[in-house]
Amino acid sequence: MSVYLSIENVGITFKTDKGSFCALDDVRLRIDKGEFISVIGHSGCGKSTLLNIVAGLLQATEGGVLLEGREVDSPGPDRAVVFQNHSLLPWLTVYDNVRMAVDKVLGGTKTKAERHDWTMHNLALVRMDQAKDKKPGEISGGMKQRVGIARALAMEPKVLLLDEPFGALDALTRAHLQDSLMEIHHRLGNTVIMITHDVDESVLLSDRIVMMNNGPAATIGQILDIDLERPRRRVDLAADPHYNHLRAEVLRFLHGHAPASHAA
Ligand SMILES: Nc1ncnc2c1ncn2[C@@H]1O[C@H](COP(=O)(O)OP(=O)(O)OP(=O)(O)O)[C@@H](O)[C@H]1O
Ligand SMILES: [Mg+2]
Repeated sequence: MSVYLSIENVGITFKTDKGSFCALDDVRLRIDKGEFISVIGHSGCGKSTLLNIVAGLLQATEGGVLLEGREVDSPGPDRAVVFQNHSLLPWLTVYDNVRMAVDKVLGGTKTKAERHDWTMHNLALVRMDQAKDKKPGEISGGMKQRVGIARALAMEPKVLLLDEPFGALDALTRAHLQDSLMEIHHRLGNTVIMITHDVDESVLLSDRIVMMNNGPAATIGQILDIDLERPRRRVDLAADPHYNHLRAEVLRFLHGHAPASHAA
């Protein structure tokens, strides 16, 4: 079977004032279509760097990334990114932030009316249709994050790349968005790579958790299969021994790889 998304022996060395710095070394990962992958690891280990290489925003210095057999060497609408610090344009309304992306990607294939409907549909998915005329400055952080997700989904990307998408949110909003993301993933079957620091979030959402070693020259330390049945409900899982076993595996990995300054 051919691999959908392949990260092949990826390494990257940055040139800095103090000489060169090898952030990633020999990262290899093969991802199937529709898989939900979480990447977890300590701060500074290279998670965002890896995601940016898959997005085509950074060039690997070794190896490369293949999507459906084609090399990724620049950003493209087939890979939408949601950054931790939502990147909405402050002078545009919620609606226009999403609509702009829709026009760019689907301008050639959908009529104006269809593009309007599609924009509204995606805003409704994240329950932001009611706030469509507000500017980013008038909505909360969680709402901005939801608009960022709607914008990414509206581009119908083959691959959704999420860099700590819920990192800045309160626990309730976070839980709500995790549930929406699970539902959207179930419905649309996107391939997702999500960076997170949250162990529960990674186990709840993922098919596999990629755990990274610390840098420099960081690489994948361990990959954990999350063989919990879907749909998953957080309330049921809390009492599930297998869920708790998987959760403990991730914690064990993270504590076994604490950065020197944090080791207890
Ligand atoms: N453009 C750059 N030039 C030099 N070094 C860089 C550059 N970008 C990242 N790095 C270094 O590469 C390493 C990995 O950074 P990266 O942002 O990928 O970490 P991360 O795992 O996403 O961390 P966090 O969890 O804090 O977001 C860090 O040591 C960082 O200082
Ligand atoms: Mg990061």
